[in-house]
Amino acid sequence: MKTVMITGCSSGFGLDTACHFLEKGWSVVATMRNPDPGLLPVSNRLRIVPLDVSVRESVAKAVDDAGPIDALVNNAGVGWLAPLEGTSHETLQRIFETNTLGTFEMTRAVLPQMRAKGAGVIVNVSSSVTLKPLPLASVYTASKAAVNAFTECLALEMAPFGIRTHLVLPGQAPTTNFGKTAMRLMQDSSCTPADYEDFVRKVMEAFRDPAGKEFTQSRDVVLAIWDAVTDTEAPLRIPAGKDSVALAA
Ligand SMILES: NC(=O)c1ccc[n+]([C@@H]2O[C@H](COP(=O)([O-])OP(=O)(O)OC[C@H]3O[C@@H](n4cnc5c(N)ncnc54)[C@H](OP(=O)(O)O)[C@@H]3O)[C@@H](O)[C@H]2O)c1
Repeated sequence: MKTVMITGCSSGFGLDTACHFLEKGWSVVATMRNPDPGLLPVSNRLRIVPLDVSVRESVAKAVDDAGPIDALVNNAGVGWLAPLEGTSHETLQRIFETNTLGTFEMTRAVLPQMRAKGAGVIVNVSSSVTLKPLPLASVYTASKAAVNAFTECLALEMAPFGIRTHLVLPGQAPTTNFGKTAMRLMQDSSCTPADYEDFVRKVMEAFRDPAGKEFTQSRDVVLAIWDAVTDTEAPLRIPAGKDSVALAA
């Protein structure tokens, strides 16, 4: 039986991906900052492990607790949509420590066991925002663009060891907690300097009510992650969701 370790399983894509791998008969190490066994179906193939990807000790302990794994899905992430001038150093740190360094550290922590086995798959959940520049997204997009570059270079570095790396690029999925969490973060800090107020209002309106826009469903992302893990011929970059597929084309 194969084992997948997934970060950020308390909601959204991570939770749905954990359920999917369980349904398919895999052993699942579902990680959460605040473990809640009630979120996932009861199964003797499921382990819930505490993990905050932005804390190095937590990364080391979680990978140790997980034991041997065949695949790692770096899904944990946090959004941010605000002008750079309204983004504090603490916020920059939080976004990059979660989305970027968290992905790097998790990957580094699992590589020794994958190299020893000569096999393994690492799937990094990035974003379709990296496919087209957007206003107010400089920090979030940069945090994910770094993950893209990291994943593409690492694919070359790891191929001789039999390890595959992939990027899944979800489009906008309003059904997860992503938008709510980002809004909460943005409300907690005064991230809109007065000179930007009109501009931010217009961008936010267009973002909330895009005429005729297609969205991404969580299932699109789950299936893209599943393909990346299970199909040895899967492409390195996999757009997930109609909006992302259209942008990538
Ligand atoms: N939804 C979208 O529109 C969209 C589009 C493109 C890409 N994405 C990416 O998709 C991934 C999943 O997002 P989602 O839409 O499923 O949002 P979500 O429902 O908010 O899920 C995000 C998950 O990441 C976890 N997380 C946040 N900070 C963490 C940390 N420091 N350590 C460990 N876990 C942490 C959250 O845990 P807590 O409950 O503890 O906060 C939660 O489980 C993210 O990487 C996001 O950037 C989302």
